[in-house]
Amino acid sequence: MDVYGLIGNPVGHSLSPPMHEAGYEALGLDGRYVTFEPDADAAAAAIAGAADLGVAGLNVTVPFKRDALDAVDPAPLAERIGAVNTVDYGPVRAGEAERPRGHNTDAAGVTRALAHHDVPVDGRDALVVGAGGAGRAAAFALADAGAAVHVANRTAERATELAADVPDATGGGLDDLAHRVATADLLVNATSVGMEAPEETPVPADHLHGDLAVLDAVYAPIETRLLREAAAAGATTVDGAWMLLYQGVEAFEIWTGEDAPVDAMNAALRAELE
Ligand code: ATR
Repeated sequence: MDVYGLIGNPVGHSLSPPMHEAGYEALGLDGRYVTFEPDADAAAAAIAGAADLGVAGLNVTVPFKRDALDAVDPAPLAERIGAVNTVDYGPVRAGEAERPRGHNTDAAGVTRALAHHDVPVDGRDALVVGAGGAGRAAAFALADAGAAVHVANRTAERATELAADVPDATGGGLDDLAHRVATADLLVNATSVGMEAPEETPVPADHLHGDLAVLDAVYAPIETRLLREAAAAGATTVDGAWMLLYQGVEAFEIWTGEDAPVDAMNAALRAELE
C-alpha cells in the first residue's frame, strides 16, 4: 500500500483525503491519503524524512509551504514561487536521490482550472487581486502561460514586491481597481475575502463586465458573491473547487505517473463541499 498525505497545522477537515482516495479507487491503486499536523519546529524534519516511514508523497499546506522548500530538492517553478505544496518521495525510495523532490502544483491548479473551462490565457491581460501565497502562485502561473499580469493588493508594497519577481508583471494597490478590472480579460481573486463570508466581495459589482473570465480561489462557499455578481454581469466564472481539484490532480499525476481520473476526483470533492 502507498501512503500519501497532507502536512499542515491546522489541517482541520481537509478535502484532500476523499478527493485523492477517489482517484486511487478509480484506477485500482492501493493507496491511502492521511493528514499530519506536526508542531512548527518538527515540520521541516518530518517533510525531509517522511520517506523513512514509507510515505510516497505529501501535500504541504499552511504554514509549512516555505519551510518545505529547504527540506527538498525543489523543481524550478517551486523555487521561483518560493513555496512547495507537493513532495515526491519516489526518487528517494528508488535510491536515486538523497532529498525528496519538491513541486508547486498551486500554479497548475490555476492554469488547468482555466483550461478546463476553455478560458484563454496566452496574450491576455490578467488581474490578480491578492499578493499572499495564492496570489504568488497565480501570478507565476499566468505569466508563464503568456498573460500580462497585474497584481493588485490592499497592501500595495506586497504587490509591487511580488510583481518584481514575475516576468512582465506590474503591481500596485487597490486605488485604480475599477480601471484595472475594466481593461482585464481575466480576474483572479487570490485574497481571502469572501471565505466563510458570503456577503463579502473583493471587487465591487459595478466594476465587473461581460468580457471577463473570473476565477475565485475561495471555495467555501463554493458560490461566492464575486462569482454570483460576475455571472450576472455576463462573465465566465470558475469556482475555487476547480483550483483545489487541479492542484490535487497535478500532485496525483506526479506521484503515480498516471493520468488522474479527474471526473472521479471532482465528484468526490464536490460531494464534500455540498
Ligand atoms: P494566502 O497564502 O492564502 O494567499 P495570505 O498570505 O494571508 O493568504 O494573503 C491573504 C491575501 O488576502 C492578501 O493579499 C491580503 O491582503 P494584504 O496583503 O493587504 O493583507 C488579502 N486580504 C485579506 N483580507 C482582505 C480584505 N479585507 N480586503 C482586501 N484584501 C484582503
